[in-house]
Amino acid sequence: MRTDNAKSIYLKDYQPPHFLVDQVSVAFDLQPQRTLVTSHLKMRRNPASTEQSPELVLDGEKLKLLRLAIDDQELPEAAYQLDDHTLTIAEVKERFTLSTQVEIRPQENTALEGLYQSGKMYCTQCEAEGFRRITYFPDRPDVMASFETTIIADKAAYPVLLSNGNCVYQQDLPEGRHLVRWEDPFPKPCYLFALVAGDLRFQQDSYTTGSGRQVDLRIYVEPENIDKCDHAMVSLKHAMVWDEEHYGREYDLDIFMIVAVNDFNMGAMENKGLNIFNSKYVLARPDTATDSDFQHIEGVIAHEYFHNWTGNRITCRDWFQLSLKEGLTVFRDQEFSADMGSRGVKRIEDVRLLRSHQFAEDAGPMAHPVRPESYIEINNFYTVTVYEKGAEVVRMQANLLGAETYRKATDLYFERHDGEAVTTDDFVRCMEDASERDLSQFRLWYSQSGTPQVRVSTSYDEQQGILEITFSQTTPETPGQKQKQPFHIPIALALLDSQGESLPLKTSAAATGASREQVLELTEATQTFAFHDLVQQPVPSILRGFSAPVKLEYDYSDDQLMFLMARESDDFNRWDAAQTLARRTLLKLVAACQQGLPLALPGGFVEAYRLALTDQQADKALLSELLSLPSESNIGDQMTQVDVEAVHQARQWLKRALAEALRDDFAAVYEQNQSDAYEITSASIGQRRLKNLALNYLMSLEAPQIDRLCMAQFETADNMTDVMAALHGLVNRDIPERDRALSDFEAKWRKDPLVMDKWFAVQAGSNLPGTLSGVKALMEHPAFSIRNPNKVRSLIGAFCSTNLFAFHASDGSGYEFLTDQVITLDTLNPQIAARLLRIMSRWRRYDESRQQLMRKAFERVLAQTDISKDVFEIASKSVAEE
Ligand code: TRP
Ligand code: ZN
Repeated sequence: MRTDNAKSIYLKDYQPPHFLVDQVSVAFDLQPQRTLVTSHLKMRRNPASTEQSPELVLDGEKLKLLRLAIDDQELPEAAYQLDDHTLTIAEVKERFTLSTQVEIRPQENTALEGLYQSGKMYCTQCEAEGFRRITYFPDRPDVMASFETTIIADKAAYPVLLSNGNCVYQQDLPEGRHLVRWEDPFPKPCYLFALVAGDLRFQQDSYTTGSGRQVDLRIYVEPENIDKCDHAMVSLKHAMVWDEEHYGREYDLDIFMIVAVNDFNMGAMENKGLNIFNSKYVLARPDTATDSDFQHIEGVIAHEYFHNWTGNRITCRDWFQLSLKEGLTVFRDQEFSADMGSRGVKRIEDVRLLRSHQFAEDAGPMAHPVRPESYIEINNFYTVTVYEKGAEVVRMQANLLGAETYRKATDLYFERHDGEAVTTDDFVRCMEDASERDLSQFRLWYSQSGTPQVRVSTSYDEQQGILEITFSQTTPETPGQKQKQPFHIPIALALLDSQGESLPLKTSAAATGASREQVLELTEATQTFAFHDLVQQPVPSILRGFSAPVKLEYDYSDDQLMFLMARESDDFNRWDAAQTLARRTLLKLVAACQQGLPLALPGGFVEAYRLALTDQQADKALLSELLSLPSESNIGDQMTQVDVEAVHQARQWLKRALAEALRDDFAAVYEQNQSDAYEITSASIGQRRLKNLALNYLMSLEAPQIDRLCMAQFETADNMTDVMAALHGLVNRDIPERDRALSDFEAKWRKDPLVMDKWFAVQAGSNLPGTLSGVKALMEHPAFSIRNPNKVRSLIGAFCSTNLFAFHASDGSGYEFLTDQVITLDTLNPQIAARLLRIMSRWRRYDESRQQLMRKAFERVLAQTDISKDVFEIASKSVAEE
């Protein structure tokens, strides 16, 4: 095991940089065997630093130093020291220009950090610490410099040469080469640096900002994808308008570029003026992308664009502040998507993700606060806690302040901190200063990890018409944090009458002009609120819109849940009531499975589903959410010990029972929601969703007639949403149509990597026996490559994280498979290896024998020589004593 640099970095040790870089001039000479990087850094001692030492320390990894000079004087070898991570120069002056030349090998870079090749093109990924793989530099976000970038390459192979900012110079060179120079006038940290070189086409458009600036918009893709850029371009323009309207933020350069690449560790990257995207979040045509792909593209395009202000103009002081940009930008993209489509459905999707992934993270060995206190490898902290819980924390502040004051507060933030590298505390201070509120207790959301549990009880005084609601909060212990203080929790509340109408909320008998929805602010461990003048006992509607990221416990009766499922006016709570009812029912079924008792449905359950299915008023996408059963992992999360088999059995049984009882209704919904022309509007997305939900239930009947219906949809659909819905159904059926559909699909899409990702994922999720050997066989398929993160995620990742039943096979075959893949990947791409390994981090939730198998798997990983920091951190923290 290699632990030499596997040490923790602490927030409390933060020190301002000793040296600043004002200007960077960097030149890339891209040659077939090697790339030469020559840089000149105008540096000076930081007046804010207390450090007296004359020493200069720069970061650098996997660089071959060819030349080193200060103010044009070559340094003798005795004047500096090199190790695997740093270049240390013994003595420098107050102000100087540091020149270096290094050789790097992008063609051998499989980690996809720094400069690398994706197919035939070159591209970069510098966040968080990739720039140190390009040249020697103080690689930290609080060092901001203006950049001038020169790129030299063969003109025929790399006609397009891009970097940040504006193109200022181009020249042809001898031997078929050319040179292009870019200048970025905005000082930026080096993690926002980007370079792209390739034979690319672009789709062009333009946008005029509110103040009349013309912006040239370009989406660069490989030639075969030029017909898949329309949706990304439309989304970008929508995002630009939205940011002006909602935050008063305009774009600030003359050109905005997006480049789609096939090999990318994450979703996309907000490099100044030159966003680089995983092609999955750019490319779409109705026949290649599903409705949810279209929606994700819209959201990710907006997310990266919004970073221009929240991340780039104002950046992070250090990586512990990552949520400063990510939490805020996720909140911004969530609200954008809510405005573009169905607000209620968007909220449901976001909360589902939060509960399934973030609550799980918060309850496991990798739990950490939104602003972490320490890390071994920063790449491991691009987490659902930093992103999604971080977004919830900003959302709560926006709601506590109210729309108008929140806007004042963000205006203040942009004005006060433009051009700076700041902290989450600086952000909260703007919220406080604009609102004149004290948010000191609220700040605990940034520093305390763990999901608060809020227990609610009510007592109703019939005589006086008074309802008392008592809230008590506790937060479970998390690694390194035993004691928790009470949080400041905003709880949106309404009281519903028997028609589902919200009643006036009077907090005293004398209250007048009462509102019908109120945000209660819970700040104590236990607190009681009273509501007066009620004419009947209301049904409380608590935590409307999911007003805080907490686990709410209130003992609704089944009847009350069915009432809410039919009548609740808050879309989120309506959905949540349905989910609670289904989950409760499923847990009872699980218990029955475990005890070998007969399975049965509670009274009224089928009727509640029929009512929702035939609701003619509601948004169809919302109904689809309402009628979707909680996932197996969601059910498992409610159990003290997950029983993989019983959960699977119970859920399959319930789905089939509903399909049998409501067969005619599902069939009718299926027929009624066939649409003629394909459109990507909210209405037609909702229609397809409900139709395909009906098909999905019907397929659980395992009836030849429905198999034929499904196959017909597969064969005749003109869009990928309907094709995939059908394929999802067929892949679980052991019938000839299954193989025919899979091979037709493969024959048609063999050459399209993104579509092939779907083909891999759908097979990895099959619940037929033998899926693991199928996955192993697919790893030999020519379209698969372990070096491509999208492929790893769609085949290996999909199997291990969505096919719980197969992955947790009692013989340990799933764990062994995952471990083998993590070990192989760790030598190629540690970031992806670590993400894969995380899937197993909640191993303590399973039975003794599975725990043993998973613990052994972690030990096997830890026993590898040359293990990366990334994988070491996940494995060692996963098995650490609690
Ligand atoms: N800043 C990017 C985003 O959220 C995240 C990102 C892209 C990233 N690529 C990465 C983070 C590689 C770490 C490593 O928009
Ligand atoms: Zn981001």
